[in-house]
Amino acid sequence: MNKEVFKKHRKAILNQMEDNTVLMVVSRQMGGTTVEDKCNVNRNYYYVSGVIEFQNIVLLYKNKEQEKEMIFINPYDEYRAKWFGAPKPKEEVLELSGIEDIRYLSTFESVLASYLNECKGIYLDIDRQGLDEDDNASVSYSKKIASKYPFVQILDAQKLFRNARMVKEEEEIEEMKKAISITRKGIEAILSNIGEMYEYQLESYFDQAIKYHGATGYAFTTIAASGVNGTCLHYSKNDSLAKNGDLILFDLGASCNMYCADISRTFPISGKFSERQKLFYNIVLGAQKKVLATARPGLTTRDLNNVVIEYYAEELKKIGLIKDASEVSKYYYHGVSHHIGLEVHDLSVIEPLKAGEIISNEPGLYIKEEGIGIRIEDDILITENGAICLSQEILKEVDDIEKFIEEHRK
Ligand code: GLY
Ligand code: MN
Ligand code: MN
Repeated sequence: MNKEVFKKHRKAILNQMEDNTVLMVVSRQMGGTTVEDKCNVNRNYYYVSGVIEFQNIVLLYKNKEQEKEMIFINPYDEYRAKWFGAPKPKEEVLELSGIEDIRYLSTFESVLASYLNECKGIYLDIDRQGLDEDDNASVSYSKKIASKYPFVQILDAQKLFRNARMVKEEEEIEEMKKAISITRKGIEAILSNIGEMYEYQLESYFDQAIKYHGATGYAFTTIAASGVNGTCLHYSKNDSLAKNGDLILFDLGASCNMYCADISRTFPISGKFSERQKLFYNIVLGAQKKVLATARPGLTTRDLNNVVIEYYAEELKKIGLIKDASEVSKYYYHGVSHHIGLEVHDLSVIEPLKAGEIISNEPGLYIKEEGIGIRIEDDILITENGAICLSQEILKEVDDIEKFIEEHRK
């Protein structure tokens, strides 16, 4: 992506910083002799730098007169180059990030000390997303700094990133569209080979196709859940035999330059939906269409979820699956939307939606006693007056799915 995007991102963070403070964000520390995984780069660091490297640190400083941006990188080292490749030279870091003040990491501690002697606070990236998550390298390093400078106020960087990362720039939306379009290729590869086989074998068609079409990674671990497995929301063993007569629920996504797609589709292994499967499938699809038609700035993701629950209450009563609206939660037990971006569950705060945010639209129905699990998930962009579906091109009408399989199955 163009460096102008990362400049805008830094500005969005600087604008929120209090006077006379610094912000420090670490990419990730080198982990032993393991092969480095670019997907583990701290997304907040990437958001302000656009540079995929390990150990680097971005420092932003703000007071009434000025704002400063610095990035600290590794110098060339022959031994490390043999193991991990050479770090990006200064010219490339400048080209990617637009940060002009580029220094070596060996000077970081003294530069930080000089700021902290005058600053009233430092924003550290020390919040974890989940309570059960271990400290990542960024968190550990930040904590070390916090204990070394006990007189400096520790401020919450995560809050700044949450606010800034929710609304996407045009270039970020383009990146996500690419990830979605590659995901579509992967889904079509599955459909062209669908039939009785192990779930992981069907998954492998996706893997091959997205790599071939230029995905830079996976947005998350693929779910390929046939039959009753589809009623477990985070099933990812993918090791059962998918049988004719069963549906299979795929929840998957490619990533493109760190930006994620998050798509779910549910297909019949035999190529044809049974009448019963079609009935439930079209109810899920109906809920999804309602959410797309309702989503707009000012509503929250909770409001959207209520649209699904109300719709299901009516439809499931009509077909006699439930008697009372309170029973919907037996068959639908997750939310319909979350934000998507550099992470599949992107940083966000619960507040009314704004134009430029990208969220999932993923109603599901899980009827365990009938071995039916269905989820249909698209990625939608909130606009000034509503929302548009970014994954519109990925097949989801019953007739289109059956026709595609008939025409393309090898
Ligand atoms: N793939 C995870 C989710 O849909 O939320
Ligand atoms: Mn998903
Ligand atoms: Mn999702």
